[in-house]
Amino acid sequence: MDQLIVKGGYPLHGNVRISGAKNSGLPILIASLLSEYPLRVSNIPHLQDVTTALDLLGRLGAKVELDESMTVEVNARRVTNFRATYEIVETMRASILVLGPLLARFGQAQVSMPGGCAIGSRPIGLHIAGLKALGAKFDMEDGYIQATAHKLHGAHIFMDVVSVTGTENLMMAATLAKGTTVIENAAQEPEVVDLADCLNGMGACIEGAGTSKIIIDGVDELHGHSHTIIADRIEAGTYLVAGAATGGDVRVRDVQPENLVAVLEKLNDSGAHISTGRDWVQLNMNGRRPKSVNVRTAPFPGFPTDMQAQVLMLNSIASGTGSITETIFENRFQHVQELQRMGANIAMNGSTAFVTGVDGLKGARVTATDLRASACLALAGLVATSQTVIQKIHHIDRGYNCIEEKLSQLGAHITRVHDSGTTASFSSLYEAV
Ligand code: UD1
Repeated sequence: MDQLIVKGGYPLHGNVRISGAKNSGLPILIASLLSEYPLRVSNIPHLQDVTTALDLLGRLGAKVELDESMTVEVNARRVTNFRATYEIVETMRASILVLGPLLARFGQAQVSMPGGCAIGSRPIGLHIAGLKALGAKFDMEDGYIQATAHKLHGAHIFMDVVSVTGTENLMMAATLAKGTTVIENAAQEPEVVDLADCLNGMGACIEGAGTSKIIIDGVDELHGHSHTIIADRIEAGTYLVAGAATGGDVRVRDVQPENLVAVLEKLNDSGAHISTGRDWVQLNMNGRRPKSVNVRTAPFPGFPTDMQAQVLMLNSIASGTGSITETIFENRFQHVQELQRMGANIAMNGSTAFVTGVDGLKGARVTATDLRASACLALAGLVATSQTVIQKIHHIDRGYNCIEEKLSQLGAHITRVHDSGTTASFSSLYEAV
């Protein structure tokens, strides 16, 4: 398995283009199942999860074409299979998103129950309860959710917990339901808005995306459309934290700064000078040591749980003590033990980590446990003395488009090494999709 080798101590300088958002790209690609006409999606990130989503669509019978500029065209006219298998769902939990579209257009879907997850139990009860309210029937057989429906109908749904993919699944299903659906306590994430924009472009009738109440008037069919997905705000936030941690000066390009407000506020509190333009954010730390910040994760517009590990790492070398409270996932602190092995001073109390900054981290061999934890370890390597080796980096490839190339572009000393000891080239890292 590949490893990342990082030699710390080099402040990051320069600018980096941010890729399309993974969490927009996945639901939007899957939304192609709602129409018999082609959906063209541009700014698709080059990620393992995207490969998995395209593989899933292909297995269902959709025709998938990808061009050099990372534009994907999915034609789901002929869908011959309605089953998302265990091997796919196990590698990508977002596969659950096929449930709503398949039920709405074909009246049937079988999706493997997602198993355990590194960051917590991640139930799907809200997806199922919402789809039941829309008229679907559910059974369970051999570890598979068996869902059927004659014709979905509109319903008034209150979601007990704010769920991003839960909201997306129901929103997609409701586009083809008969009548009006209201989703209350809906997720307000920018990726939900991006999906709604794409669905409206396909002829859906959705209002209120980006607020806690989404209203969907069902239509008879959706048509073809071309959509460009928004930038990945978590990738952008990760490079900005890398700039802050190394005392550097980093500009992220092709982003929507309005989607980064909660993260920018914390970076500002940490002592960074932040400026923004229409589609860029510049962070300048002027060689200063960051100050500790207090963070509590929350659904959008709150501080994203997907940035928790990175900001915890920032606190680990900052001046003072900061608290990091995780409110979304129960087991999302696996990076703490690895950071402690690098010399971080972190005391856990339930779902809060109290982090007292140390003067410097020490390089070590560490193991990535999930996507964002592995990004946090790569950033820790940038500020550590000597060399850090990060193992099991397949997690990082699920969500970061060529992280070592982009960090190198900013002046980091980071290399990917194959098991055999050879340095990997970009083109060999990913299978063609
Ligand atoms: C999405 C994102 C993920 C992000 C997370 C929270 C995608 C593909 N993934 O994941 O990167 O970390 O939002 O911002 O968009 N819950 C229930 N019942 C359910 C569903 C969820 O109780 O049926 C709970 C979860 O346990 C969790 C909370 O709701 O505590 C939020 O989870 P959710 O928003 O559903 O996460 P995902 O959509 O899986």
